Amino acid sequence: MLLLMDEREDTYLIKGDSEFHCRFGFIKKEVLAAAKPGDILESNTKHKFRVIQPGMPDYIGKAKRGPQAVLPKDLGIIASYTGIRSGSRVVDAGVGSGILSMYLAHIVAPQKLVAYEVREDFAEIAKSNFKKFGVDNIEVKIKSIYEGIDEEELDLVSLDLPEPWLAVEPAYKALKTSGYLTSYSPSINQNARFMDALQSRFQSYTIETLERRWNMDAVRPSTQMIGHSGFITIARKLY
Ligand SMILES: C[S@@+](CC[C@H](N)C(=O)[O-])C[C@H]1O[C@@H](n2cnc3c(N)ncnc32)[C@H](O)[C@@H]1O
Repeated sequence: MLLLMDEREDTYLIKGDSEFHCRFGFIKKEVLAAAKPGDILESNTKHKFRVIQPGMPDYIGKAKRGPQAVLPKDLGIIASYTGIRSGSRVVDAGVGSGILSMYLAHIVAPQKLVAYEVREDFAEIAKSNFKKFGVDNIEVKIKSIYEGIDEEELDLVSLDLPEPWLAVEPAYKALKTSGYLTSYSPSINQNARFMDALQSRFQSYTIETLERRWNMDAVRPSTQMIGHSGFITIARKLY
């Protein structure tokens, strides 16, 4: 895949196996086939495009969306506070659009990540994202995680679903001692109920992340920011 950036810094994620068209003209397939990161390509109308090697942040930004996906600021929190790395054993539920699954799978590769989802239509959206971006280490199971987790000795169970407290018992059984259970919930009531279910078997804390961009032309913070996304609870299995 290639990422093309136009003169306004708008980006286009393309396969590069066919002619590329946008409001600034078109670029031929042969030109795209020979393009390398760093090159500047010119459209038939003389508009310039910088070639960039795409990566996970681009895939996340361009993925097809079904239900509400986890935002980059929150993805990073889950990874950094659980310390997952290549080889970590992870189950993610529900898969939704597959954004969190894709991000975690990218970190634990070549280890396979298992993602649970109850809705076939959302699982199809997620699978189409994985296929499009070449993420091949995710197995999607159509199963409610509340009914049990088939995998054992997990380093992380990550939850983003409406009743996370119902997944605590299955997660407790499937986790290694010292493994992590995380839950992302938009509402603090959901989060409180989840924390009640953890009991003393887990050490836990809740984080809300606020991301504020700066307008460096005006040398001040941006006037707009995301008001709220969700609360993340990080819980560690103690015994
Ligand atoms: C907000 S979405 C998840 C978004 C996903 N984390 C992402 O970043 O794209 C919540 C998902 O949980 C699924 N879900 C709800 N209950 C579930 C259960 N018991 N087991 C597995 N998935 C479930 C829903 O169908 C929905 O797709």
